[in-house]
Amino acid sequence: MNNYFSIKDIDSLDHWVNEAIELKKDPLSNKALGTDKTIGLLFFNPSLRTRLSTQKAALNLGMNVVVMNFTGEGWSLEYGDGTVMDQGNSEHVKEAAQVVSQYCDVLAIRAFAKLESKEEDYEENVLKSFIKYASIPVINMESATGHPLQALTDAITITEHKTTHKPKIVLSWAPHPKALPQAVANSFVEMTQRMDADFVITHPEGFELASQITNEVPIEYNQENALKDADFVYVKNWSSYTHYGKTSQDQSWKITEEKMKLTNNAKLMHCLPVRRNVVVDDVVIDSENSIVIEQANNRTYAAQLVLKKILENK
Ligand code: CP
Repeated sequence: MNNYFSIKDIDSLDHWVNEAIELKKDPLSNKALGTDKTIGLLFFNPSLRTRLSTQKAALNLGMNVVVMNFTGEGWSLEYGDGTVMDQGNSEHVKEAAQVVSQYCDVLAIRAFAKLESKEEDYEENVLKSFIKYASIPVINMESATGHPLQALTDAITITEHKTTHKPKIVLSWAPHPKALPQAVANSFVEMTQRMDADFVITHPEGFELASQITNEVPIEYNQENALKDADFVYVKNWSSYTHYGKTSQDQSWKITEEKMKLTNNAKLMHCLPVRRNVVVDDVVIDSENSIVIEQANNRTYAAQLVLKKILENK
């Protein structure tokens, strides 16, 4: 594997999940693999989990880590071909990607959707430009349309916690005061379609994800119907794809204790950070059925597995 850009880069999800669970038992077992290798982490947006878990994963493999918060610290980058650069952008991605490739052996990038233009966001210009011009492998730490490290984490977490061979998994939209990208939901949907699961997506009308991502996954507009007998409830806000970037604060979609009673004693998942008592009530996220902290812990092993596969291929 050269790059980890999307869930499609996983050749066998079952094998990857099982390998990550093995890595978790003995995280330092491959410490020699990354000795004298450097990973560069470039952040165009904030992060807690992705930044620290990817650093931790690299350190577990013996790598050196350099981190740059690009927005505010780096030169603003130009991505267009043939642009006369007489406006705000100071450096072209062509040079930036080649220069960083000389300092690092692996590059990981976070660059969210701007939610101004669906076409621009879904072109994935930032990640795809770095992949095009860098001479080293590139890892997606959440791009405009996908968060494949989170989705791999979620597959590991569901596998660890499932009690039936084919669990019912519900992805539920939730209200949010701020418009958020579709990236986490998109990758979760792509990943869950590859698991042996009874999978349902529930959201208000107008919040359909891109049909090329949801494919044949059932969509239930009645949240309570969707939650019935669920084994896992994955709650997440995303802004509208159709009315691009619009959000809603409809509190009737918040996950409450009453709604969780409709489920089969379901585990609650969220990628974090989460707005308490807006997305999910305190009593639910603080309950013993909430696995959000263990889910965040698994970010390290998802990142470590991806890095291990890239290092083994170098
Ligand atoms: N889930 C996740 O990506 O968390 P951060 O935004 O804190 O990295």
